[in-house]
Amino acid sequence: MSLAARYHEFGPPSVLRIENIDAPLPKPGKVRIAVRAAGLNPSDYKTREGMTMGSAAFSFPAGVGRELAGVVEKLGQGVTSLAVGDEVFGNVVSGAVATLAVTNPDNMARKPAGLDWVTAGGLALAGQTAHDAVASQRVTADDTVLVSAAAGGVGVIIAQLARLAGATVIGTASAANHEFLEGLGVIPVAYGHGLADRVRAVAPAGVSVVFDQHGRETVEAAIDLGVPRTRINSIAMDPEEFGIERVGRGPINTQTLETLARLVVEGSLVIPIEATYPIAETRQAFEHLESGHLRGKIVIVP
Ligand SMILES: NC(=O)c1ccc[n+]([C@@H]2O[C@H](COP(=O)([O-])OP(=O)(O)OC[C@H]3O[C@@H](n4cnc5c(N)ncnc54)[C@H](OP(=O)(O)O)[C@@H]3O)[C@@H](O)[C@H]2O)c1
Repeated sequence: MSLAARYHEFGPPSVLRIENIDAPLPKPGKVRIAVRAAGLNPSDYKTREGMTMGSAAFSFPAGVGRELAGVVEKLGQGVTSLAVGDEVFGNVVSGAVATLAVTNPDNMARKPAGLDWVTAGGLALAGQTAHDAVASQRVTADDTVLVSAAAGGVGVIIAQLARLAGATVIGTASAANHEFLEGLGVIPVAYGHGLADRVRAVAPAGVSVVFDQHGRETVEAAIDLGVPRTRINSIAMDPEEFGIERVGRGPINTQTLETLARLVVEGSLVIPIEATYPIAETRQAFEHLESGHLRGKIVIVP
């Protein structure tokens, strides 16, 4: 049997149920993972609310969660790239918040021994997204980069990858996260009305690249600051409205995940964990996530 968080209709966190279900069987080419940790992302609640494109073709009951870390526990026919007992982390189509989950081994990277389970469980999606966004802009030490929601799941990784590329980084956050961002070498500014002026005050020579994780306000500030639209990337709004870029998560690349894991282990990349919850409290975990004010990730530990 597997204990799994599922829902039978679209709706708020109260539609979530914790159910005992038959252990999912790995089809040929798939593997079954004994889940040690599963990260939550905004797409999980957008899907649960029926907001995403895929929802029309949805079948209930639906599983929850798209990233995990765990131990390979059963191999589907023909799998040779992983073995039972391997410690891995990565992306699943659905159903990561469970004691057992089935996935494609190509979407799993090996978890280094020095990477703890909780961090590994919350690393894959925000990590791949942040990596792909930063790589698309070829950030260098000559850049001054503005990152919105810089303490959030994706923003905190973008900010640090841009710092690692040598850039000067300004990050928007609420006051509660300013000291934390300073500790990462990021210049904090408050989001909200007057953002462009506050950014001008800390970057009188201008901003060259903007990564937005929260929507319109940062993009409008970026345009006000004279940043070329090809160097404004938003993963939180329709890019066509302003003719900006939208590079978010591309396909999972195990080499990228392994590089991010190595950076964490060597201490160059911090993945803050806002909170962990047991699987029985998945509903409370979502209520916390949906509050919108996180420092890093919320991770379920089954
Ligand atoms: N996670 C992924 O892999 C992924 C992939 C593709 C796209 N996206 C999209 O990217 C967006 C961000 O994702 P995420 O995982 O980083 O979300 P998240 O972790 O839930 O973001 C939380 C952050 O948003 C900040 N925030 C709240 N209100 C704000 C405001 N008015 N202006 C600026 N920042 C504000 C908060 O800062 P304070 O706590 O300091 O208030 C908090 O740190 C979402 O729309 C998501 O759907 C995410």
